[in-house]
Amino acid sequence: MTTVRAAVLTRTGDQGPFASTRPIEIRELSLEAPGPDEIRVQIRAAGICHSDLSVVNGSRPRPVPMVLGHEAAGEVIEVGAQPSEFQVGDRVVLAFVPSCGKCSPCAAGRSALCEPGATANAAGTLLSGERRWTDSDGSHPHHHLGVSAFAEQVVVSERSAVKIPDQLPFDVAAVFGCAALTGVGAALNAAQIQPGDSVAIFGLGGVGLAALLGAKLAGAGQIIAIDPVGSKRELAVSLGAHTTLAGTGDTVAELKGLTAGGPARVIETAGSAKVLETAYLATGRGGTTVTVGLPDPAAILNIPAVSLVAEERTLKGSYLGSSNPRKMLPQLFEHWAEGNLPIERLISHRLTLDEINEGFDRLATGEAVRQIIAP
Ligand SMILES: NC(=O)c1ccc[n+]([C@@H]2O[C@H](COP(=O)([O-])OP(=O)(O)OC[C@H]3O[C@@H](n4cnc5c(N)ncnc54)[C@H](O)[C@@H]3O)[C@@H](O)[C@H]2O)c1
Ligand SMILES: [Zn+2]
Ligand SMILES: [Zn+2]
Repeated sequence: MTTVRAAVLTRTGDQGPFASTRPIEIRELSLEAPGPDEIRVQIRAAGICHSDLSVVNGSRPRPVPMVLGHEAAGEVIEVGAQPSEFQVGDRVVLAFVPSCGKCSPCAAGRSALCEPGATANAAGTLLSGERRWTDSDGSHPHHHLGVSAFAEQVVVSERSAVKIPDQLPFDVAAVFGCAALTGVGAALNAAQIQPGDSVAIFGLGGVGLAALLGAKLAGAGQIIAIDPVGSKRELAVSLGAHTTLAGTGDTVAELKGLTAGGPARVIETAGSAKVLETAYLATGRGGTTVTVGLPDPAAILNIPAVSLVAEERTLKGSYLGSSNPRKMLPQLFEHWAEGNLPIERLISHRLTLDEINEGFDRLATGEAVRQIIAP
């Protein structure tokens, strides 16, 4: 048993301001040793993602108490049992679906759909079914997406970890774990952006801006970036967007006008069914709309059904960048090393574990892009 400081979400449904309501408490928890196929990781950097905020405000139901966070990088400090592909001292990034590698989606290369991984994530356990934390009252807080990034140390399944290159700093590596894998993967794997394509991206948070970097990497001819927050639009231009829109006017008409009939590929990362509807309607005939945002489970999408057929459109969802993180992340690290994927540009704030509630306020108000916690 090791004692570690961790950010525990005590209740869900809190609408903030979190600096006053303080739904997340920093507690000292006992962390058990890793079991077979598990490792203990010293967290060096963790990013705050909107999916964490959705657990806090209740739009993504998860069991509590839970040690939040799912975007992190760190150093392996204990290996559960040998043989293992990991050694003490390895630098790793954590992925938010522990893909077992054996179930039928995993065998088909669709790690995001791993069945035991999804079961464990919904239950708030590790892939092994275990919870490795104990609170002072003897209860066992849940794990968030097999990661629980907001803690000094974590125990995770080996299937959640991917080694990172020596030259990749931990803070940038953390952002690769969720925002970059999700956004770039949506652009390359799901939208399959081709050189010269017109592309629109709705929502310019960490995920949307990573999708923008992915669109640029794929050689998009025209990139239109949409977000009501002016500072996000400015950042999008500095990262390669050709045009921006606030999304407050007739966005469908504006996009059709800018692209002669609508962009060929549209990626939605705002997490709203209403925004997805606009994104779909704005997509050009024969085009592809990819949705990445995670709206409230009760939200319903209203689209004209016949348009899918008569205009040969594609509407698809993308989770975990529609990727196998073990294959995709090393490719993304190479693009980063070559200077073609400047993910560090998405880091807007740095904070300590004790400032986490304030960090969630900055995300909710749109002030922050990616905020890095170094415990
Ligand atoms: N599919 C996945 O695997 C996956 C992974 C991570 C996050 N997510 C989800 O993706 C979404 C984005 O995550 P994030 O961390 O980048 O969030 P974020 O809060 O940083 O970014 C969302 C952005 O959407 C913008 N927005 C709000 N209303 C808008 C509108 N009407 N039009 C255009 N933009 C609008 C906000 O201003 C904000 O900049 C969330 O729903 C999150 O839960 C999905
Ligand atoms: Zn995330
Ligand atoms: Zn699997």
